Amino acid sequence: MDHFNYSGGRLHAEDVPLSRIADEVGTPVYVYSTATLTRHFLLFQQALDWTDHLICFAVKANSNLAVLKLLGDLGAGMDVVSGGEYARARAAGVPGGRIVFSGVGKTREEMRLAVEGGIRQFNVESEPELTLLSEVAASMGATVPIAVRVNPDVDAKTHAKIATGKSENKFGIPISRAREVYALAAKLPGLQVIGIDMHIGSQLTDLEPYRQAYTKMAQLCRVLRADGHPIMRLDMGGGLGIPYRRDNAAPPLPIEYGQVIRETVGDLGCEIEIEPGRNIVGNAGVLLSRVIYLKHGEGRDFLILDAAMNDLIRPAMYDAHHDIVPVIEPRTGAEVAPVDVVGPVCETGDTFARGAELPALGAGDLVAFRSAGAYGAVMASEYNSRPLVPEVLVAGDRFAVIRPRPSIEEMLARDVIPPWL
Ligand code: LLP
Repeated sequence: MDHFNYSGGRLHAEDVPLSRIADEVGTPVYVYSTATLTRHFLLFQQALDWTDHLICFAVKANSNLAVLKLLGDLGAGMDVVSGGEYARARAAGVPGGRIVFSGVGKTREEMRLAVEGGIRQFNVESEPELTLLSEVAASMGATVPIAVRVNPDVDAKTHAKIATGKSENKFGIPISRAREVYALAAKLPGLQVIGIDMHIGSQLTDLEPYRQAYTKMAQLCRVLRADGHPIMRLDMGGGLGIPYRRDNAAPPLPIEYGQVIRETVGDLGCEIEIEPGRNIVGNAGVLLSRVIYLKHGEGRDFLILDAAMNDLIRPAMYDAHHDIVPVIEPRTGAEVAPVDVVGPVCETGDTFARGAELPALGAGDLVAFRSAGAYGAVMASEYNSRPLVPEVLVAGDRFAVIRPRPSIEEMLARDVIPPWL
């Protein structure tokens, strides 16, 4: 459920008509709903209320400071994968003690930043990383809590580019080698082994891969404890999918996911961490765009929008589907006709949908891409020298620009022409 609905014939974000935002901020623009973000976060809280837990929002899904502050104020922790994300979480007011640091390629500088600023735990993904982290922490006179990310070799049954839990993926340490690596970790100075971490992929629409992975995690927890490691925390990763199509069977709910966690690892007495990104913010955002032209091609029509692949890369990159809906509610029984929805970028890949069944739309009309709150703005670029897409946050009948659109002058001002030119 989200808070983007038609009211009085116009699509609203909560109580704000999207057309008002388009008029005042311009298009394309991302629009997020506070009520939806809050609701989704609380659903995860509820799903884990049977145990001590921390929901660490995966900052990579949406890293706007306003979104992070909103979630942080609700009690969320943060899962970060770079020094930049760590700095964002801190700037949004989230204490270091609620931040976990994931990712396969943490640099010495990033480690230092997080050790200095405070960290809940590092999720370590390899032996060289373990050694480097030990060196950095020890040299700073610190002891940092760590979990080792274990790759359980399960098939997450999701898009190949976002599956992470198979042995051929670059992530984590093979579960078969976990004991060895924990033994090494326990010997190294500056490290305190406290948990196990896993993340098997993103946009999972089936709970079975989770059940398999978490069952392996429970077994491993027992083995590691028998080896003498004080495992007190389990980081279950993120990845629970969202409905991208209104007409499709909905993926499992957070409460059902929480139940799988309870059934598989619930008896171990560990504190539970999860790292959801998409499920909290995906359906809490839309990308609002205006039609520039309706172009009649040979045998097909093209709706050319002012949003492009640089603003929302998911269709081009993952063949992802986003429902595209008109902002003015079509009258009941309005005819629909297939149209290709495209952006202005000079690539055929700049196609959002082929043969989308839409009512008659023309220049100046507004459309919204649903489910665009996750991996939308964060993956945007300035390709074709299109200024970075702005973001707006709605709360009830209020809205605020939480990232303005840079002017063309601002965009150009970042480049430097060397003195010899
Ligand atoms: N934790 C770790 C270690 C991750 O690598 C990820 C996502 C998450 C948590 C959050 O997963 P989520 O709950 O959002 O599914 N750009 C792609 C998605 C990439 C996901 C990468 N890792 C997309 O647009 O579909």
